[in-house]
Amino acid sequence: MARVVCVTGAGGFIGSWIVKLLLARGFAVRGTSRRADDPKNAHLWDLDGAEERLTMLQVDLLDRASLRAAFHGCDGVIHTASPMHDNPEEIIEPIIAGTRNVVEAAADAGVRRLVLSSTIGTMYMNPRRDPDAPLDEASWSDLDYCKSTKNWYCYAKTIAEQSAWAAARARGLDLAVVIPVVTLGELLQPSMNTSTLHILKYLTGEAKAYVNEAHAYVHVKDAADAHVRVLLEPRAGGRRYVCAERTLHRGELCRILAQLFPEYPIPTRCKDEVNPPKKGYKFTNQPLKDLGIKFTPVHEYLYEAVKSLQDKGFLKKISDTKVSERRSSPPHSSQPAMLISKL
Ligand SMILES: NC(=O)c1ccc[n+]([C@@H]2O[C@H](COP(=O)([O-])OP(=O)(O)OC[C@H]3O[C@@H](n4cnc5c(N)ncnc54)[C@H](OP(=O)(O)O)[C@@H]3O)[C@@H](O)[C@H]2O)c1
Repeated sequence: MARVVCVTGAGGFIGSWIVKLLLARGFAVRGTSRRADDPKNAHLWDLDGAEERLTMLQVDLLDRASLRAAFHGCDGVIHTASPMHDNPEEIIEPIIAGTRNVVEAAADAGVRRLVLSSTIGTMYMNPRRDPDAPLDEASWSDLDYCKSTKNWYCYAKTIAEQSAWAAARARGLDLAVVIPVVTLGELLQPSMNTSTLHILKYLTGEAKAYVNEAHAYVHVKDAADAHVRVLLEPRAGGRRYVCAERTLHRGELCRILAQLFPEYPIPTRCKDEVNPPKKGYKFTNQPLKDLGIKFTPVHEYLYEAVKSLQDKGFLKKISDTKVSERRSSPPHSSQPAMLISKL
């Protein structure tokens, strides 16, 4: 379908992988950033095909004209740019108004399909949901619950996605939404990102115990692949795609990290010694499997994430590691319990 694709937030963790996959498939890519010449986007120029087929544009999500100019002449747009924290003063506008502007500008520019990066936080934050029913595209977070629990990121992303669907319907725009969970794996970008920070504290000794919580996880390459497949597959429009490999309690995550990297001081104790391990949601990722995604097992992306933290200097290498022995055949996990996620 698309030959020219615009990727907002192109230099981010998932955005960089999307750009890499699109360039590898021969597409011309227009990447956007709040500052096109930001040194934190320099890694994009090292990607195969970048010199010939990548252009970087400066875009402000709150300036619809700048978005329209970026999308003009594009067949497809993938909107990944978003803050990822819980300060309402900083995130509400770029997430809600920014997403709305992306939809309107994509419709104005006549793009054939818009793919949004949403989040599992738009689905599970609902006190009335049945914990045994897998989250699927009909699941929505409850806005009052997000507000009362001060989960402003989930609140903003839920409103943004819901109004994107309404605006796309009103404008006749072909929209599809990818819903990632905590995304991990090799970092292409030089800077730290929110989801990688999630595991760093367990490796440095900063966290002495893990919390009684659970999250769902996915490999960054699979998340990027999901965005690209959803953009390109003609029958993929009009749907929400949960992009998750499995859900793990934090204790299980720490045990896998310790199995892979026994040289780090990874916690073995839960902060909550009173309550049973929290149970969380189930989900269905079948719609993405139907588009051909084969989800990578957690040991592989945890391994790649930690190697990347070492290679980029975020984590000190400790010698006498058994990692190299395990590189070719990461250990298999026991079947994890299905528990809860936040992202
Ligand atoms: N990583 C995860 O675990 C995860 C899970 C669920 C959903 N998601 C969603 O996936 C998308 C990409 O996530 P990511 O992990 O790749 O994030 P990331 O590495 O933080 O990259 C996001 C990019 O968005 C841009 N951005 C940040 N704050 C912004 C703001 N206030 N206004 C406009 N642009 C801003 C930044 O680009 P510039 O600085 O170059 O402008 C940044 O590089 C996001 O929509 C996120 O909500 C991610």
